[in-house]
Amino acid sequence: MGTHRIAAIPGDGIGQEVIAAGLEVLDALQARAPGLRLEVQTFDWGSEHYRRTGRMMPENGLEQLRGFDAIYFGAVGAPDIPDDVTLWGLRLAICQGFDQYANVRPARLLPGVRGPLRDVEPGDLDWVVVRENTEGEYAGAGGRVHRGLPEEVGTELAIFTRKGCERIMRFAFELARSRPKKRLTLVTKSNAQRHGMVLWDETFAQVARDFPDVSTDKELVDAMTTRMVLKPRSLDVIVATNLHADILSDLASALSGSLGLGPTANLDPERRFPSMFEPIHGSGFDITGKGVANPIASFWSAALMLEHLGEGEAAARLMDAIERTLAAGDVLTPDLGGSATTAEVTERVCALLAGSNV
Ligand code: IPM
Ligand code: MG
Repeated sequence: MGTHRIAAIPGDGIGQEVIAAGLEVLDALQARAPGLRLEVQTFDWGSEHYRRTGRMMPENGLEQLRGFDAIYFGAVGAPDIPDDVTLWGLRLAICQGFDQYANVRPARLLPGVRGPLRDVEPGDLDWVVVRENTEGEYAGAGGRVHRGLPEEVGTELAIFTRKGCERIMRFAFELARSRPKKRLTLVTKSNAQRHGMVLWDETFAQVARDFPDVSTDKELVDAMTTRMVLKPRSLDVIVATNLHADILSDLASALSGSLGLGPTANLDPERRFPSMFEPIHGSGFDITGKGVANPIASFWSAALMLEHLGEGEAAARLMDAIERTLAAGDVLTPDLGGSATTAEVTERVCALLAGSNV
């Protein structure tokens, strides 16, 4: 497959810890897979860069990233800098600048993990949340007027385009088609929001005609939260807007055992730009520096990255090492009820990779 060029951006907080762990695991994987070649360049962008230069990344940051095959991203966010500055200055700037319109978040109850739901076994909870990642409620449109006055107004304008709806739905249908259950659930709030959400409903119905082999249903977002908790087996692939899927994917991750497990792919499915892979959990400054962050979400994100790069076999081997580590149950971080450190979990996954047959 040739050499894959990876831009690593550890960013802030535990992002630094889990990306370092992920790079170690990728090294261990390469040592056992002679055909796999990753060339990693690390960028020190994030809040420290902001404190130093007034920018989360250099002005030509996107230009610097454009030539890479993928971006391996940690997290952004720091207690002393407003969240909208850190996010729009780096992560969202990359998602939007590279038109990574498909945000893909698998959530699966893995063997050995005890989720919070009673009587739910591995296999009962196996979802992929597909989140529209460039428009909707997070398009960035809106503004503030009469600043500082009692009459001040802030607007946040949700933007939904037919093109934006159609492309994310086609992506979600293709994904659903590739999975055994072949089921896709559309989430909106079209009873209360009668413009953009109805455009979502209508576009979904149109796109569905091209996928007769995929079974579909619809759920309003509030009802969806209860369905995820009460009837997890009834779900497979879920497609929702930027805001709704942001919320539902956190719930999905918690229901699958821990926020420390959930991975994300921010994809440009047309491959015009590099796609970005990151754990869902964020910078976690309450546990930063303690060495106890769960690195599994970062490893799983690396597996998604390998899959995107056409390295399916390496991805499967990494997932297998992750699953065996969790199933053994003796080396788990505190979020999963264990007392292991990030380094110990990393060591275990590396050891399993080293022992696996090529
Ligand atoms: C996530 C995060 C981010 C997002 C925030 C921090 C902007 O919550 O990846 O889900 O919603 O994109
Ligand atoms: Mg979120």
